[in-house]
Amino acid sequence: MTAVAGAERAAGRGEDDPILRFEDVRLHFAGVRAIDGVTFTVGRHELFAIIGPNGSGKTSIFNVLSGVYRPQTGRVVFDGVDLVGRRPHTIAALGMARTFQNVELFGNLTVLDNLLLGRHHHIGYGPLAAIGWLGRARRAEIANRAAVEEIVDFLELERWRRMPVGLLPYGVQKRVELGRALAMEPKLLLLDEPVAGMNLEETEDMARFVLDIRDELDIPIVLVEHDMGLVMDLADRVLVVDFGQVVATGSPAEIPHHPDVVRAYLGGSASEPPGRAGPDGRGDPPRPGDDPRREDPR
Ligand SMILES: Nc1ncnc2c1ncn2[C@@H]1O[C@H](COP(=O)(O)OP(=O)(O)OP(=O)(O)O)[C@@H](O)[C@H]1O
Ligand SMILES: [Mg+2]
Repeated sequence: MTAVAGAERAAGRGEDDPILRFEDVRLHFAGVRAIDGVTFTVGRHELFAIIGPNGSGKTSIFNVLSGVYRPQTGRVVFDGVDLVGRRPHTIAALGMARTFQNVELFGNLTVLDNLLLGRHHHIGYGPLAAIGWLGRARRAEIANRAAVEEIVDFLELERWRRMPVGLLPYGVQKRVELGRALAMEPKLLLLDEPVAGMNLEETEDMARFVLDIRDELDIPIVLVEHDMGLVMDLADRVLVVDFGQVVATGSPAEIPHHPDVVRAYLGGSASEPPGRAGPDGRGDPPRPGDDPRREDPR
């Protein structure tokens, strides 16, 4: 990373003109406080990580951001636009793209076709033009295919491009899902556990792509991840949530030593043996190499 890019990112990390403001959001399901008054901002050049034990509200935050759930209270402002009450396809068209905790792709379609589906906001022509295969439709189709080929190059998917996604190794499927999100040319990318279930090599590849997306494509990212090595290596800032509430926000260097984080991960009991996560994922505070998942992550 160049010094200029670093300085720009440091500026984007600030609260001056964030791409995203999540303000005092509450999302309750009968009796469950999935999100209980969470506030954070994401800078325009930032890789912002959200961590916390299983069931702490991380995916719920993504579901509010992408319009799947409407929060009872709070504000979500994305690039100056208030998102609460807007539908998922509207929010996607505004430039918010996500990947899912479990791969959500069309398994019987090829890699290229799955990526092309990510371009549907960029089709740029109406059905009549498409039927007639008129000039504008043809030009749009060519442009979309070119954009998808760039993503294939960027994510090193060449050897699988014409294969049905369902036949590919899991790590490659996760990469295709990332490609589908990139195909939308997002202003903000939400990644929900991008390396879950991956082996070491696949994880290292994914880490490299995530960094390149921030540094080369200059797309800000919100990353939910249990792999603490990845979070501590990649994130500019880390938000720790537990029971739907913010425990702490800070740099990857600060977070493992933050007293409230230590308390949350020890579950209020400092007498637990160090280095052991309990069945609820609690144990030592997060450190590189840790995976503080509760027994059944999904
Ligand atoms: N549609 C729903 N109906 C009822 N409860 C829900 C719903 N979605 C989430 N919850 C509850 O909200 C809480 C937060 O869940 P969420 O999926 O956001 O956790 P998470 O931090 O993503 O966990 P994990 O690390 O396991 O993915 C949990 O108690 C969950 O059971
Ligand atoms: Mg989740």
